[in-house]
Amino acid sequence: MKGIILAGGSGTRLHPATQVVNKHLLPIYNKPMIYYPLSTLMLMDVIDVLIICNKEDLEVYRKLFWDGSKMGINISYRIQEKPRGLAEGLLLAEDFVEDDDMCMILGDNIFFGHGLPDLLLETRRDLEKNGGAIIFAYWVHDPEKYGVVEFDEEENVLSLEEKPKHPKSNWVVTGLYFYNNKAVEIAKKIKPSHRGELEITSVNEEYLKRGELKVKLLGRGFAWFDAGTHDSFLEVSDFIATIEKKTGLLIGCIEEIAYRKGWMDKGQLVKLAQPLKKTGYGGYLLKIAEEKK
Ligand code: DAU
Repeated sequence: MKGIILAGGSGTRLHPATQVVNKHLLPIYNKPMIYYPLSTLMLMDVIDVLIICNKEDLEVYRKLFWDGSKMGINISYRIQEKPRGLAEGLLLAEDFVEDDDMCMILGDNIFFGHGLPDLLLETRRDLEKNGGAIIFAYWVHDPEKYGVVEFDEEENVLSLEEKPKHPKSNWVVTGLYFYNNKAVEIAKKIKPSHRGELEITSVNEEYLKRGELKVKLLGRGFAWFDAGTHDSFLEVSDFIATIEKKTGLLIGCIEEIAYRKGWMDKGQLVKLAQPLKKTGYGGYLLKIAEEKK
């Protein structure tokens, strides 16, 4: 399975904060936002990752992650010339995905909860076995701000609507999409919406039409954030800070995941920690390196 992170977009809703720095590079508490979606992909054993970004940010992302090999993963990059919509990510990923399945995650989506790694791995296996598309739904009080999914008692999807004025349910589609290889072909056929974007909802609707769309519910034990506003930056940063301080365990720590998964050895973990050693983050990595395996 290949992983795709959408980290482009204009970020105009956050100006002037994002006027010269891309939103996904700004900190959510103690690490750049993009660490969180990258860690979500890593938790499901996805080691081939494509970051889709704006031209002017490419070098900064490269400086941050290089080609991923320092953590034992492969990171490549594609430029999105203009924010033409989420489904364009699938088109830009065509030669990267080749004949594989894919998991696309929005760069501003942060997931947390007990059992999340197992749920992700289970979803990956489900897709690899049964094909189609799998999306996740989360209950919110303001569904009109998102893609809304309506389903029956057996959790069969009935309808999908992008930011509807009159939502049919409180369940919204999170920015984590599992697709079989047909997604690219589907994305090629969809037309821009009334707001001029290639909507990911149109891709999901096509899977629904084909009877190949599954929805999994993220219940109340999970936290999901779409960090697209100043307030949500603050809220999710507070959330991460609270849990990290209480437990002493970091959320979205990509080096820890790579080490625990066995993708890099202790020597490499220490090497990555060295330049950060004056910070809590670096100290945390060094502590992990000292643990008996
Ligand atoms: O977060 C979940 C929601 O994300 C879903 O419920 C909606 O169905 C989906 O359309 C999307 O809505 P948003 O309004 O949150 O999308 P936004 O335009 O904010 O873009 C989401 C992320 O994708 C953001 O991190 C920027 C990036 N992006 C966006 C566009 C339009 C790109 O990289 N390229 C793009 O062309």
